[in-house]
Amino acid sequence: MGLVRRRWLSDSQRRRALPPTILTEIFGGIKTKNIVSADFGKDATAGSDLQRALKRGHLIRDDLPIDQSTDTAAGREASAPVKWNTIHFRTPCLKEDLLCKVSEPVRDCCHKVTVVGAGMVGIAIVNSLLFQRITSHIAIVDAFPKKLEGEGMDIDHGSVFLGNPRIDYDTDLCITSNSKVVVISAGVRQTPGECRLDLVQRNSEILKTIIPTLLGYSPNAVFVLVSNPVDILAWVTWKVSGLPVNRVIGSGTHLDSARFRFLIGDRIGIAPSSVHGYIIGEHGDSQVALWSGVNVGGVQFRDILPNIGLETDEERWFEISKEVVRLGSTVRCLKGYTNTAIGLAVADIVHAILNNTQRVIAVSTLVQGHHDVCQETFMSLPCCIGENGITNIVRMRITELERKSFKASANIVHNLQKDIKTT
Ligand SMILES: NC(=O)c1ccc[n+]([C@@H]2O[C@H](COP(=O)([O-])OP(=O)(O)OC[C@H]3O[C@@H](n4cnc5c(N)ncnc54)[C@H](O)[C@@H]3O)[C@@H](O)[C@H]2O)c1
Repeated sequence: MGLVRRRWLSDSQRRRALPPTILTEIFGGIKTKNIVSADFGKDATAGSDLQRALKRGHLIRDDLPIDQSTDTAAGREASAPVKWNTIHFRTPCLKEDLLCKVSEPVRDCCHKVTVVGAGMVGIAIVNSLLFQRITSHIAIVDAFPKKLEGEGMDIDHGSVFLGNPRIDYDTDLCITSNSKVVVISAGVRQTPGECRLDLVQRNSEILKTIIPTLLGYSPNAVFVLVSNPVDILAWVTWKVSGLPVNRVIGSGTHLDSARFRFLIGDRIGIAPSSVHGYIIGEHGDSQVALWSGVNVGGVQFRDILPNIGLETDEERWFEISKEVVRLGSTVRCLKGYTNTAIGLAVADIVHAILNNTQRVIAVSTLVQGHHDVCQETFMSLPCCIGENGITNIVRMRITELERKSFKASANIVHNLQKDIKTT
């Protein structure tokens, strides 16, 4: 079922043959063959109904191209007498009478973003992109047409407050063509009794179906994976697409790092944006909070509290990193899903890509060769992000304990990933 909702498609010229009864009325019984040598008066109101209709451009001749036949001035000068074999009536068209077309609008903007999956997360991403004016052209795709249409219409109705963005929504991936960024937030939920590996395999199957088509429509796009388990699905996307590794990014621990910074800032009463710190590794239970690097205004917390983040820390800062792991499920228990913060986190990544900012963000990438990881695994490390996706991975100076935890995290991800079929 196609649901294409596109702006700016020009209406085709509406014209219909005049019914014989009306012809008779207009011409007062004169036959339509061999009528009229046209000398129309200067006064638009002068002359017969036919002359007025011709003058207003509502009658058109079949023997001239459409634009010439509707131009009564041109028609006057072109030839006389004029033969009218068939006369059509062109209904007045407000758009055409109001707007004089100079050129077609550009079909796909250079900052076009596709979001696949119009669930709670996908729509939160779309809202974050639109509310922050990060892009003004979004294509939304989902397999479930009714919800998609409802979401698309709802966004459309807010256009007046959003700078008139262009929103395409359809179940057909063709609307995603020429996207600069493709965000994947589509996925199936775990069914009762289903093990994690089966869920991963089912979500991998979805990616195997859609990634080649998406890539065909947007061969230069950067792919941002959000669906869970995000590290494994980012790896699947990379394998299935054959893209260079820089163009496949998992949203990874950007959200976890934001929660980490929020909790620290909240505890000491400063803005989370002024707290600098990262969570690396799996977007999941085995993630690693880098207490060794946490700082405010360049002051390292570890210089003040050497054992910060460790179980021996009497101020119990380690509780914050444990809470970050639990926060996702806490929010899910309370409201049924998480979407606002992940929507903002993904919009932040998309902003860095579209604006080539080279910002350092903790995202999921191939970590093989980093911090002693030897498996082909995607996990989060702080990365510079720009127009080509990931340009650099920051070589973190981490402690031996953090390195071991990072390696253990890679083992956990790889153990789940190794049985996934990507072909
Ligand atoms: N990375 C993160 O930090 C993070 C945070 C929250 C949620 N998530 C993940 O994001 C994903 C989406 O979560 P949600 O709450 O929006 O789920 P949801 O069930 O509300 O939405 C999923 C959407 O995907 C669509 N879909 C399924 N198969 C599709 C296909 N083949 N093509 C197009 N659309 C398809 C469904 O119709 C549905 O609308 C989940 O995998 C979730 O675990 C990730």
